[in-house]
Amino acid sequence: MYFLRGVLVLLYALFSASRAQEDENNRPCDIFLQDINDITLNCSRRNIDRIPAWPEEINKATGKDACVRITFFNNSITNVTELGAVPGNRIAISFKSNRIKEIEEDAFNNIRRLVYLDLSNNRLSGDVLRSEIFQGPYKNGVYSEIALETLNLGYNQIHSLDRYLFQYTPNLTRLYLNNNPIEILDHVTILAISSATNLKVLDLSKTDIDAVPLETFRGLVNLKQLDLSGNKFVTVPESLSLVGSTLQYLTFNNNPLVELNDDSFLGLSNLIELEVGENNYLEEVKRSTFTPLKSLRVLHLCHNRKLKYISHNAFRGIKEKWTLEEVYLDDNNLSELPTDLLPWDKLKVLGMTGNSWLCNCDLANIVTKQHAGIKFKPGETPYCAAPMRLSGAYITNITVSFCPQFDTTFAPKKGFSLSDLRPKQILWCILGVGTVVGIGIICGLMVNYIKAFFKKTIRNEPIRYVNINDELA
Ligand SMILES: *[C@@H]1O[C@H](CO)[C@@H](O)[C@H](O)[C@H]1NC(C)=O
Ligand SMILES: *[C@@H]1O[C@H](CO)[C@@H](O)[C@H](O)[C@H]1NC(C)=O
Ligand SMILES: *[C@@H]1O[C@H](CO)[C@@H](O)[C@H](O)[C@H]1NC(C)=O
Ligand SMILES: *[C@@H]1O[C@H](CO)[C@@H](O)[C@H](O)[C@H]1NC(C)=O
Ligand SMILES: *[C@@H]1O[C@H](CO)[C@@H](O)[C@H](O)[C@H]1NC(C)=O
Ligand SMILES: *[C@@H]1O[C@H](CO)[C@@H](O)[C@H](O)[C@H]1NC(C)=O
Repeated sequence: MYFLRGVLVLLYALFSASRAQEDENNRPCDIFLQDINDITLNCSRRNIDRIPAWPEEINKATGKDACVRITFFNNSITNVTELGAVPGNRIAISFKSNRIKEIEEDAFNNIRRLVYLDLSNNRLSGDVLRSEIFQGPYKNGVYSEIALETLNLGYNQIHSLDRYLFQYTPNLTRLYLNNNPIEILDHVTILAISSATNLKVLDLSKTDIDAVPLETFRGLVNLKQLDLSGNKFVTVPESLSLVGSTLQYLTFNNNPLVELNDDSFLGLSNLIELEVGENNYLEEVKRSTFTPLKSLRVLHLCHNRKLKYISHNAFRGIKEKWTLEEVYLDDNNLSELPTDLLPWDKLKVLGMTGNSWLCNCDLANIVTKQHAGIKFKPGETPYCAAPMRLSGAYITNITVSFCPQFDTTFAPKKGFSLSDLRPKQILWCILGVGTVVGIGIICGLMVNYIKAFFKKTIRNEPIRYVNINDELA
């Protein structure tokens, strides 16, 4: 009897637990009304496989600048069908992490004020992304434009884009194409990208590309930020110079670069921030690499595990009008830095951790005399790896007394006294003096001998004076 009751209780508990789970998955979307200007509809994680009709409350977004956010994050939607009208002036919709492989024509037809659309992490191919899906309502014989500003197409299966894809989205400013198997920016894809002339942000990271043809950037006269990380570039693409007058942020991590040189950043005179990290083949930064970067403020040159050499001329030509404030050289394979690499004193932040620093007098000069030692972030003081007796010490702890030549205030010159000399040194002194004296004696003897030799030969063969008149006779 008790046993049966036990089993029943257990079964009931299991049943209600699974029902709770089901409720969790199928409950309606949550709507949050901050005020008439701010509404969020949360349909995340609800096991939804088709887009529901909007709840009534959404029409409460009556403010003039009302912002409406709708998210379907992490459901199983496969087909984006025509969405119902949404009031408000700025509408953001996320379909991130679904299984979308189809988008209907006119899907966003009723949402002209759609400014943000996240379609990342789905199963979209380029063929699905036809220009028709972004067209606005049909009026007076033409389709109107929509307000779209941000479009995230990352983590899909896109190889190529329709050349007219951005025909109806003139205000597109941020385009994310990262983590797609693009491989080659073909003719139509280039036409599509370059037609988005208002683009400010373009993410082409992890797309397996190894080149960016010039035409890609020709129309992008507003481009400010570009990410080319995780691709197959062996050099920084030359075509970048086409956007040199506007580009401010460049991320170039994780590419098979071997070196950076004076061609790498040609024309990027307005770049403010540069990140070149995790390039596992990068060994050398050559002279004049950073010379074109006349506006650079932040340089991240980190996690390049083979980077061993930075030319002392790497910043040639920009040291006089120095703009850099933060330089990060963390986690490379550096052991030495040239003392005249850059005006260390003018930096605000310097990162040097994670390298195998040889704590020699050059490094001591940079750290103490040129005040680099006070630019490290708290808790990010680098250690010496060599020489042995300094290994593990902070590089700011190197005592300058062993490099007296560069700073008399830290290591006042001492008067010379015999007691400073150790027995070995005295022995070498005596040997040295002995050698000099010996050589002197030998030289003297040789000179005397040569003199004697010449005197003898000259006496044996006296010069004969011939009377010219005698000869003629
Ligand atoms: C939306 O709903 C999901 C599932 O209930 C929840 O995990 C998430 O935190 C919610 N997000 C917001 C922004 O409220
Ligand atoms: C989405 O939810 C499933 C469980 O339903 C989970 O396994 C998965 O990791 C989630 N995906 C993301 C991107 O959060
Ligand atoms: C997407 O949904 C529409 C409307 O329900 C339907 O006509 C169309 O066949 C669907 N497409 C796919 C690929 O399921
Ligand atoms: C694009 O932006 C401009 C300026 O903000 C605005 O006037 C115009 O209406 C926008 N275009 C569309 C189609 O929303
Ligand atoms: C770093 O440099 C040292 C020589 O200084 C070399 O032995 C080592 O292999 C280098 N590390 C890598 C990851 O290349
Ligand atoms: C640095 O020097 C201070 C004072 O001389 C000493 O206490 C500290 O242990 C040193 N730390 C390292 C890591 O060298």
